[in-house]
Amino acid sequence: MQLLHQIYLAALTIPGYTTALPASPYQPSVPHLTWSLKSTNSTQQFRGLSPVSDKVVWVSGTSGTVLRTTNGGSSWSNISPSFAPENATNFQFRDIHAWSAESAVVLSIGEGDLSRIYVTSDGGKNWSKTFVNEEPAAFYDCLAFEDEKHGLAMSDPVEGKFRLIETWDGGATWDIVDPQGIPAALTGEFGFAASGTCIEAAAGRWYIASGGVDPGRVYGSSDGHEWKVSNTSIPGGPAAGVFSVRFRDEKYGIAVGGDYEKPTGNVDNAAWSEDSGATWKKAESFPGGYRSGASWVPGRSHVAIAVGTSGSDITVDGGKNWHSIGNGTFDAVECVKEGVCWASGAQGRVASLSYKHNV
Ligand SMILES: *[C@@H]1O[C@H](CO)[C@@H](O)[C@H](O)[C@H]1NC(C)=O
Ligand SMILES: *[C@@H]1O[C@H](CO)[C@@H](O)[C@H](O)[C@H]1NC(C)=O
Ligand SMILES: *[C@@H]1O[C@H](CO)[C@@H](O)[C@H](O)[C@H]1NC(C)=O
Ligand SMILES: *[C@@H]1O[C@H](CO)[C@@H](O)[C@H](O)[C@H]1NC(C)=O
Ligand SMILES: *[C@@H]1O[C@H](CO)[C@@H](O)[C@H](O)[C@H]1NC(C)=O
Repeated sequence: MQLLHQIYLAALTIPGYTTALPASPYQPSVPHLTWSLKSTNSTQQFRGLSPVSDKVVWVSGTSGTVLRTTNGGSSWSNISPSFAPENATNFQFRDIHAWSAESAVVLSIGEGDLSRIYVTSDGGKNWSKTFVNEEPAAFYDCLAFEDEKHGLAMSDPVEGKFRLIETWDGGATWDIVDPQGIPAALTGEFGFAASGTCIEAAAGRWYIASGGVDPGRVYGSSDGHEWKVSNTSIPGGPAAGVFSVRFRDEKYGIAVGGDYEKPTGNVDNAAWSEDSGATWKKAESFPGGYRSGASWVPGRSHVAIAVGTSGSDITVDGGKNWHSIGNGTFDAVECVKEGVCWASGAQGRVASLSYKHNV
């Protein structure tokens, strides 16, 4: 794309050539970015990722594991809630939300009482179990917070609708959201507990990403109670659909996904919306495979990163075109305002990428 950028600039200098230019001649250059792997000394799979800054990062995953660094990934502490060793392997913390080096909420996925939530306010020394699912049909996938108090966690449909639980006290107590305002799910529709981004809170709105049905869908709400659902352009199926929905402001968002059984399949696996998710347009060029997570880069309004098991990609035009930045496997990505993106995944992989390029 850098070459393309130069061609456009050259063309602009030729008198009379401008009519031949595309409608939008500005072609931002794609920076060269590479992931810097951090040693976590862990072989767990970290689908839960919540960086607070370029220094403080929490990851969570298999075998009930939670790790935290406070020095930018040079060293990691295992601050997992304590389980009997024979029971820890049952728990998969697929989502985590941290506010500081001290406070975080972590979600364990699974059937029955495996779906549960723990909260810490002392950096993981003490965890309180604040929610244990009692609904046999529920399976919690992900959670999101719009501030330090108000959050939602999302379960696959119960009695034909996605089930949501809500907290107004930073995760200490949870109540089931009245299903009245939630549209009916389609037969086979569910969310993907792949990266903690199947529910999103952004700019005063809430979103849910779904799959299992074709196409994958996105639900949107301004209060977490009254929801509308839209088709996306991302194909869905038993292992396919929208895995991650992210909004940079109240209007503009991206969705990524694909089929996790086809890691390098990239048919129509990314889309963007400029109307708060009411309608979705497919990208023009796509990430290099199934992508489970995406994150906007704060302060770079058109720039976002997507990751999946077959690699990672960047967009510099708001999700219309995606460019490969690596082929290593990751599940989740989150960027922080310091211009650093963090990614995490299988076999204890955690990496950071410094976004200093002036786009
Ligand atoms: C890695 O973890 C193992 C097992 O807990 C421990 O024995 C070893 O010292 C650790 N290595 C480093 C570099 O932290
Ligand atoms: C392990 O989990 C099972 C099932 O939840 C429970 O009955 C048992 O008491 C747990 N074991 C310990 C040692 O906590
Ligand atoms: C841990 O938190 C629980 C619930 O808030 C509290 O009852 C308990 O005293 C705390 N334990 C420690 C060691 O701080
Ligand atoms: C959404 O997609 C489904 C399946 O293709 C289709 O039946 C339905 O009409 C679509 N809804 C809208 C509003 O386009
Ligand atoms: C990743 O692999 C794809 C397909 O082989 C290739 O086109 C792309 O350039 C690779 N990306 C990087 C950053 O090496």
